[in-house]
Amino acid sequence: MNDLDPIVDAARQAFAAASSPADLENAKAQFTGKAGRITELMKGLAALSVEEKKSRGAAINVAKQAIEAALAARRQALAEAELEQQLHAEALDVTLPGRAREPGGLHPVTLTMERIELIFASMGFDVADGPEIESDWHSFTSLNNPPNHPARSMQDTFYVDIQGEDGIHYNLRPHTSPMQVRYAHQHIKKFADAVKAGQPLPEIRVIAPGRTYRVDSDATHSPMFHQCEGLWLGENVSFKDLKVVFTDFCRTFFESDDLALRFRPSFFPFTEPSAEIDIQFQSGPLAGKWLEVAGSGQVHPAVVRNMGLDPEKYIGFAFGMGPDRLTMLRYGVNDLRLFFEGDVRFLRQFR
Ligand code: DAH
Repeated sequence: MNDLDPIVDAARQAFAAASSPADLENAKAQFTGKAGRITELMKGLAALSVEEKKSRGAAINVAKQAIEAALAARRQALAEAELEQQLHAEALDVTLPGRAREPGGLHPVTLTMERIELIFASMGFDVADGPEIESDWHSFTSLNNPPNHPARSMQDTFYVDIQGEDGIHYNLRPHTSPMQVRYAHQHIKKFADAVKAGQPLPEIRVIAPGRTYRVDSDATHSPMFHQCEGLWLGENVSFKDLKVVFTDFCRTFFESDDLALRFRPSFFPFTEPSAEIDIQFQSGPLAGKWLEVAGSGQVHPAVVRNMGLDPEKYIGFAFGMGPDRLTMLRYGVNDLRLFFEGDVRFLRQFR
């Protein structure tokens, strides 16, 4: 036992007592730090003779190495303890069953829209998209429904409280019919070019699906709902073609030839003659009932003129149907509001 052993022992005890890396560094400073006990002893060597320096210096070095070894051992032990604690805190129970992520799916009305687009595309129809905030002119006037005309009250329109630069009034479109004139205007160059080149007149054959709005809310009406407009204009497109196209569409949509259609006389300002289209299933839970699915008619010459086209050359039909209604009929849903409540218990059935 020499006078250095107690210092080494004291260091070992201080290190063992250190319970964190920070404590340990503080303890270390007391021994091998700038003013530590070993460091002080080293400084004392200066006063010794060469011989004494040798033996004393060697002894201090042995003690210093012992302290450093103890320090390194304690550092490692603390690091391992920390890791252990962390692993424990983040323990995973690998035997727990996994939480599966439910696959998403398309909304039933979206499925219907896609179905409608596919069927009409197969009949050569283009698919167009247009604004939901629409000008008064496109929504009504261009469709032969001038301001103050009583037919405007057929639709409970949301008016938008802004007025455009040219004094234009806007509304949330109450139907997709404004797309008739918009689409014709978008493609007007094609018609002009054909006339110039003496080519046969290009036809307009388009559907325009989208959101529409009316002040209306109950089990079968929603303030936001969907429509799909259809328009086929050409040199010789008749009411007969409307019947063929719409009958084909319905039979394909419902995957049934066992389906009757009825064109019931009606009134719309933008068509003459006009008809509501009803369908009747011959079997299934809805068998025998006539169900209204669309409005339709021969496009009014005034509307063709507003498209920038000659009503003497362009005739044809238009229709506007309700994809929400078609979805209800296809899947047997009896309350329209289910479509817009976002309840996954309802929606996941269509996945
Ligand atoms: N826009 C009409 C409505 O919302 C539906 C309609 C009827 C559209 C006749 C048409 C049509 O294109 O020819 O009630």
